[in-house]
Amino acid sequence: MSTGVNEGGGEATVQAVRVCASGELVDGGLGVRRAARIGADEVVVFFVRYEGRAHGYLNRCAHVPMELDWAEGQFFESSGLYLMCATHGAIYAPDTGKCVGGPCRGGRLRALQVDERDTPEGRAVFWLPDGELQPAAS
Ligand code: FES
Repeated sequence: MSTGVNEGGGEATVQAVRVCASGELVDGGLGVRRAARIGADEVVVFFVRYEGRAHGYLNRCAHVPMELDWAEGQFFESSGLYLMCATHGAIYAPDTGKCVGGPCRGGRLRALQVDERDTPEGRAVFWLPDGELQPAAS
């Protein structure tokens, strides 16, 4: 069940969306995908853990707007240090989404606001949607 929170300072109320239990995101391991939308367009966002922290991005390469993962949830390259696009090998810093090699030069992934907190069901990762990028209607 989602837990709503009110974020101060903005004109709109941000509804935090529970993504997964914290234990499901392993450092440098498989990412968790979630359906999302930008306006009427269906898109995918993903969440990974890197150096202990959870991060989330729109699953869209900065080179050509394609999804990054070559197999579902496979976002890290083999060293576990970078996110890699399967199509032409662009690599991104997992903590900032900034392109650090390959044809995405100068680009970056669209970052999501991610929070991790304790809940009655255990520690969990939450997405705090902002702007046009919103969770898909369930
Ligand atoms: S589409 Fe990602 S590197 Fe070209």
